[in-house]
Amino acid sequence: MTAPLHAAVIGLGSMGANHARVFSDMAGVELAGVADPDPERVAKAVAGRAIAGFADTGTLLRETKPDLVSVVVPTQLHEEVALQVIAAGANLLLEKPIAATLPAARRIAQAAAANGVLLTVGHIERFNPAIRELKDRLSEGQGGRIIQIRARRVGPFPHRIRDVGVIHDLGPHDIDIMRYLLDDEVERVYAEARRHINTDNEDLFAGMLRFKGGALGLLEINWLTPTKERTLSVLCEKGMFVVDYAAQTLAFYENFAAAAREGAIASVTEGPMTRYPIGNREPLRVELESFRDAVLGKLPAPVSAHDGMVALAVAEALVASSESGNPVVVDEVSFAA
Ligand SMILES: NC(=O)c1ccc[n+]([C@@H]2O[C@H](COP(=O)([O-])OP(=O)(O)OC[C@H]3O[C@@H](n4cnc5c(N)ncnc54)[C@H](O)[C@@H]3O)[C@@H](O)[C@H]2O)c1
Repeated sequence: MTAPLHAAVIGLGSMGANHARVFSDMAGVELAGVADPDPERVAKAVAGRAIAGFADTGTLLRETKPDLVSVVVPTQLHEEVALQVIAAGANLLLEKPIAATLPAARRIAQAAAANGVLLTVGHIERFNPAIRELKDRLSEGQGGRIIQIRARRVGPFPHRIRDVGVIHDLGPHDIDIMRYLLDDEVERVYAEARRHINTDNEDLFAGMLRFKGGALGLLEINWLTPTKERTLSVLCEKGMFVVDYAAQTLAFYENFAAAAREGAIASVTEGPMTRYPIGNREPLRVELESFRDAVLGKLPAPVSAHDGMVALAVAEALVASSESGNPVVVDEVSFAA
């Protein structure tokens, strides 16, 4: 039997506490330590677990020498903490968005490549069982060509997040899922954004993405809705898939009149609706298991630094469009290792 990998979690806020919980009972992994400058959060995370708690990242890395680390600190601190983890030679899962700015993301990706550590980004919806089922069905050609994808991710204002606006904080989830489902890149974006509660950044936006292959992406994302909704509809020539990310459900509304010919719709009429059974699992657990397996098997990162950088670049283009009032072309994202 191989020795368990040593894991660590840096940042024990609302998301980091979940990373610690999931690592603490994962096969093949031993949670060795956690770090957060807030002593109460450290005390809560170590309670009842045989793990060490630290006030700072440097001491955690020196004392526990982790093989894999979740970095779950506020977005503005991603670069500083990720670079420390990479310098210590540990593999890391960096929460989304990969960084607060594209130059910071590029420095992180370059450092990881130069140090030979695995860097993956916490685009958690890729590990949602309903999205996996949808991806399989699309790959088998069930819907035919995708015409439009619409995402609605709305809910109440999270007072803890003050360092970035809602485009950077929530946008990358759906931008990444649209790229993943379409297997295509965004060419141009247009967005309108508003600031109501946030003093420095937007808390509501509506965005439109044009993909290179012609598909449209529509994003309605805000922190101003008094009920939480996370849904995605994928309109295809042969019907429409609807995902509820939170409930992990997937339904298909068939276009009864779908043309057999690819690339053209002769007519659209309402057909039967089918709900597919989904084996529900906690997406964070699936994500961290994939991280573990990639480290163990020396496999590629489940979500690459490039994926993280592209999602961030599209988010930055959406912000630029909302500020200028004009459509913005998304530049190709690259980084030299
Ligand atoms: N994948 C998802 O669905 C998801 C959900 C929520 C948050 N997140 C991401 O996780 C990150 C954290 O978000 P959150 O909601 O947990 O925020 P949070 O404010 O609840 O927690 C952040 C924690 O980091 C700690 N911290 C601050 N500076 C630190 C440092 N230098 N070293 C170690 N710890 C430090 C804080 O004390 C706090 O406990 C953000 O990047 C956010 O975008 C991802």
